[in-house]
Order: sequence, then structure tokens, then C-alpha cells
Amino acid sequence: MIRWFNHTKDELLRDLALPAMGTLCEPEVAQNLALAVALRGLGAVSPNPLVGAVLVDNANRFLGAAAHERVGGLHAEARLLADLTQSMGANALQQSLKGGRLFVTLEPCAHEGRTPSCARALAGSGLKEVIYGVTDPNPLVHGKGAGILREAGINAVDASLHSDFKPWSAACEDLAGMFLHNISTGRMFTGLKIASSMDGVVAFEGDRRIWITGERARTYGHFLRMAYDAIGVGAGTVLADHPRLNVRHPFLKDPSMSRTPRRVVFDPRGRALEFALGGNLVPLVMEETETTVWLIAQHGVALDLVRRAEARRIKVIAVPVEMESKRFLWSEVDGALQALGIRSLLLEGGPGLYASALGTGDGRTRPFVNKIHLFQSPQILGDRSPAGAKALRWNTSTAMRQSIRQDRVQLFQLDGDWGFEISLDSDAGG
Ligand SMILES: NC(=O)c1ccc[n+]([C@@H]2O[C@H](COP(=O)([O-])OP(=O)(O)OC[C@H]3O[C@@H](n4cnc5c(N)ncnc54)[C@H](OP(=O)(O)O)[C@@H]3O)[C@@H](O)[C@H]2O)c1
Repeated sequence: MIRWFNHTKDELLRDLALPAMGTLCEPEVAQNLALAVALRGLGAVSPNPLVGAVLVDNANRFLGAAAHERVGGLHAEARLLADLTQSMGANALQQSLKGGRLFVTLEPCAHEGRTPSCARALAGSGLKEVIYGVTDPNPLVHGKGAGILREAGINAVDASLHSDFKPWSAACEDLAGMFLHNISTGRMFTGLKIASSMDGVVAFEGDRRIWITGERARTYGHFLRMAYDAIGVGAGTVLADHPRLNVRHPFLKDPSMSRTPRRVVFDPRGRALEFALGGNLVPLVMEETETTVWLIAQHGVALDLVRRAEARRIKVIAVPVEMESKRFLWSEVDGALQALGIRSLLLEGGPGLYASALGTGDGRTRPFVNKIHLFQSPQILGDRSPAGAKALRWNTSTAMRQSIRQDRVQLFQLDGDWGFEISLDSDAGG
């Protein structure tokens, strides 16, 4: 049985096997399958949500499952109907759908866009029930998809309102979290990925590179890179680690699922950019430069450096900084990155970037984090390097502490380390 919460989700990519058609598929199994199959669209559907759908017949026998796999491609429900029409033929499918049920992680769409309306396609299917995990907040769809189904005599069930389906609904909300946040706030979804030792060490002084967590936790980090539109690092990390910031995940059977996310470097004074262009060709700059966005402070960096970066196809964006802290104004970062089509950003460190993302304890700077991915090693590292262990400063505002959603704290084991995923209320991501 797949458990969405408290489960290492990249294993769903490795182990997911669909049941044979006709196998008994109880509602709980169908719900889990819908979540797991949705991951087929990971990294390929933004700005759309990940969506999965499972069909069972009137005796709970499995008919099929499908996902929204890429932006511009068919929605999950339409893909499922198309696949089954092809494999079974239209007449046999119509017979099988009579009295059947569809489990779909998001309300079926009501609008004709790049693809025809899924609610209309389902309306004439003969299904008895459509159970959807989350209502689509998009005003073009909100409640309208369910309305079309009800008009056609199909029982459209909003899972969040039904006690049997509430846990699944919460998982569907988690699955579509980036999209739901984007639509309801207009802001980018920001994740913070932290690897920490038991004593809170996240980095060492200088360019001494160490692995704080084990290999399993690091591969999970690569899975996260696939889930976000972009990954962000601070200037210090570029200078210390020369990270490649690409996706290298051993569970990916289908290499087409692997992709390099956009890379965003927070470098207000251009010190990492100068280093990168000054003959010290760090891998970040050498590999696929066109996917790299370099954020610098307005009036902070010599024009000559900007020109040289742009000649190397690095996109350099000047963003205003806050007077006192000299940190970028987050609303400006949000606007600049969204203009490039980036709807979600995973901040990977280091401690300087973490601290600014968490905001200041005095509330002067608001936090801008929606989800924390914390990888906790059971090692004590600090005293191995008395000269320069850097601990994470959880110097955060009350608003942020209060916004942790207790029902959305997930915990899972990654060999010898622990993974925590902590969702924050949308308001925290200022
Ligand atoms: N444990 C982990 O999960 C992890 C992950 C990544 C890296 N690391 C480690 O972290 C170390 C580097 O950490 P670090 O603290 O020295 O550097 P860092 O966090 O990578 O970069 C800090 C610098 O980035 C710029 N910056 C960060 N946030 C900003 C913001 N909101 N607005 C404007 N500029 C911003 C500033 O540059 P200026 O100083 O030029 O203003 C700041 O000093 C390395 O040793 C690396 O191995 C650990």
C-alpha cells in the first residue's frame, strides 16, 4: 500500500506497477494509485498541477490509470479515456464505464483550453461517481467542473468534504501544492532544502566540502530538484562548492524524466559571477549556461561583468535590495523569476541564503518559504571542525512559527538519515 504522507516519494517512481485490468482495486488502493501515477508529470507540467486519475468499474475492478504528463499535453482524465478507447475500443469501454467510478486528484476542468474540457468528456461516460481530491481554485474551473458532472447525473464528490476521503484530499492538496499556491496568491512557491547534522551544522568555513547526509538523502534531493521549476543557491555556495545543480537520480528508469532545472544564483555584489568569469570556470557556468539566472543588486555590479556574463548566455537580472540588510526584496525576486516562467523555486543553501529566506526574528524581513525539506543526519559534526562549523540560525518570525501546519509535517527515513517535509501556510511565503 502506498502511503503519500511519511513516504519517500521517489520510491513511487521506481516501484510503481499498475494492477492488471480487471484486478480488484478497492477505493483506498485507487486513491493511492492516482497520487503515485501523477508523479509521471513531475517537472514537466508547470505551470499546471500534477494530476493523476484512476478508473474502476461497477465492481471495483481496475480499468486504468493516467497522469497529466506534460504541459500542453492531455489532462489526466482525457489521457485515460483516450488510452482505454485505444486499448479496449469505444464500445467495450462504454460498457465498462457504466456504474463505474473515477478517482482524480483535482477537480475535472470545465474550460476548453489547450485541451477539451474533461468534465464534458466525462459527462457522457455513464460513470456513477467522480471523486476528486481538491477543488480547482482557478476561477475558470472552480466548482464548474463538478457542476457539469452533476448536471449529467454523475455524483461529483469533493473529497475534502467527505470523512472517508479527507486524508486523500489532504494528500492531493500536497501533490498540487505549488499550483494551488500560485493560483491563490499569485506568488511563486518557495521550498527550502537543508541538510543538517544533529548539532545543527550545515556548512564549514571556506571551501571545505563535506557531505552532511548519506547518499540516500542526497538522491532524494535530486528528486526534489525535478519537482521544482528552478533551484537557487547563494554566492557563497557557488564559490565553495562549484555545484552542478542538475538532476542525477538513480531511480529514473526513463531518462526523459530527468531534466536540468533552471538555476538561480543570489549574488548581489557579483562576487561569484566575477570568480566564475575570471578564468575560474566553475561547472555551474560551464554546463548549460542558458538555464542559469544570475541575480545581482541594482547598481551593484560593473556593466562589463554583466556584458561578459550575457555573452556566455547567462541571464543577469538586476534586482533592488533592501537598504539595511542589502538582501534582495523578495517581491522583486518573485516578479523577476515569474516573468521567466518560474513558478516554484527550491532554495538549496547555504546558511546565508537560508537565513535570509527565513526572515528576521524582529519581523523586519518577512519569511518567504512555503515548504521546508530538512534532511537530518544523526552525526555530531561540530567539534570535528572547531575552526569553522556553521550552524543554521532559525532566526525566524513568530508569524512563521505559527504558520507550520501540524497536519502537514511529514517524516521519513532515508537509510541513516531522516527527512522532514514541513508545509507552511501560504501566508508565510510573503
Ligand atoms: N547543509 C546544506 O544543506 C548546504 C547546502 C548548500 C550549501 N551548503 C554550504 O554552505 C556554505 C556556503 O554558505 P554561505 O552562508 O557562506 O553562503 P550562501 O548562503 O551560499 O551565500 C550567501 C551569500 O549569498 C548572497 N545572498 C544570500 N541570500 C541573499 C538574499 N536574500 N539577497 C541577496 N543576496 C543573498 C549574499 O551574497 P553577498 O555576501 O555577496 O552579499 C550572501 O552573503 C558552503 O560551505 C556550502 O558547502 C550547505
